[in-house]
Amino acid sequence: MKRRVHVLGTGGTIAGAQPDPGHYGYTAAQFGIDWLLNAVPGLDRLATLSGEQVVNIGSQDMDDGIWLQLARRVNEVLASPATDAALITHGTDTLEETGYFLSLVTASDKPVVMVGSMRPATAISADGPANIYNGVAVAADPRACRRGTLIVLNDEIHHARNAVKTGTSNPSAFSSMSRGLAGITSAGRVEWFEREPHPIGGPPRFDVGGLESLPRVDILHAHANMSIDLIDAAIAGGARGIVVAGVGAGNMSARAIERLARAAQHGTVVVRSSRVVSAMVLRNAELDDDGLGFVAAGDLNAAKSRALLALALTRTSDPQHVQSMFDQN
Ligand code: DGL
Repeated sequence: MKRRVHVLGTGGTIAGAQPDPGHYGYTAAQFGIDWLLNAVPGLDRLATLSGEQVVNIGSQDMDDGIWLQLARRVNEVLASPATDAALITHGTDTLEETGYFLSLVTASDKPVVMVGSMRPATAISADGPANIYNGVAVAADPRACRRGTLIVLNDEIHHARNAVKTGTSNPSAFSSMSRGLAGITSAGRVEWFEREPHPIGGPPRFDVGGLESLPRVDILHAHANMSIDLIDAAIAGGARGIVVAGVGAGNMSARAIERLARAAQHGTVVVRSSRVVSAMVLRNAELDDDGLGFVAAGDLNAAKSRALLALALTRTSDPQHVQSMFDQN
C-alpha cells in the first residue's frame, strides 16, 4: 500500500506569483496547497496525499503563535494511524528556524519534511514542483523515520537542525555547513547518508500541547561600536531571553558584555551565538561564561538559538540548565 502523506501549506515563494517572467518581482503566498499539488504531475505514484492550508503567508511573518498552531496540527496528523508522514510547504526566509522548532516539539518518529522554493510558482523553471515531488518521495520513504524534521530543496536532504539559508536567489540556497547532508534525492529517488550523532527524532524535547504563547526572546546582532541601547530596549520590552549573534565565535563589545552580565544576574538568560554562518561558539573559550552567567550556543545559529531558548524558558531560567539543553540539541 502506498504511504499516506498529509501536506500542510503555509505560503512562501513556493506558492508565489510572478506577474511577468521577464521581471524578478513577485508576491509570495498567492496559491493554495491544492493548486500547488495539482501543478506537480506524478505525485499519486509516490504516495496517497491529503492536504490542508494552515496559513498562507510570507514566512517573514511566521510568529510563535503560528509555530504553536503548526506544531499542534503536525502532532495531531502524525498521531493518526491514517497518516504515515507530514510534508509542510513554507517560505525559505524562516524555513530553518521553523524546521528546527518542529524538530524539538514533534511527538512522533514519523517523517516531517519541509519544502520551499527560491523561484515563484509562475516563474520560468520554477523549482517548487520538483522540490514538492522530491519532498513527497522523501516523506513517503520509511527510512525517513526518526531523523527529526528534514528540509528538501534542490535535490538535497538537510536535517532542519543543521540547515542554513546561504543564498537569496539561486535554487541551491541552503547548506548544512560543517554537518553535511542527510541525503540526496532526484526525480523521486532517495539516497540516505549515515545517521546524525546527536539525538534527533523520537520523543519531543518539549511538549507544547498546552501552550498558547512562548516566552519572548530577542536577537541582537553584534557589530563594531555596538551600544547597549537595544539590550535595554529588549529587557524593557519583556524579553526573558536574549540571543546575541556575536562577532566571530560569539563575541561582542565590552560594554555589551557588562550590560548583558548584569541582565543575566537579574534573571535574563543570555545566549551567545554568532553572526558567522559556519560557527562553533564554545563555552568559556574567549569569554568567561561561568563568571558572566552566559550560555554558549555551539553550532546553532541565532535564529535557531532563539527557538531553543524560548522553549527552554518554558521550563527553566537557570543558565546552567539551559546550557545542558543547548549541549543536547
Ligand atoms: N517572502 C519570503 C518567504 O516567504 C520569500 C522567500 C521564499 O519563500 O523563498 O520566506
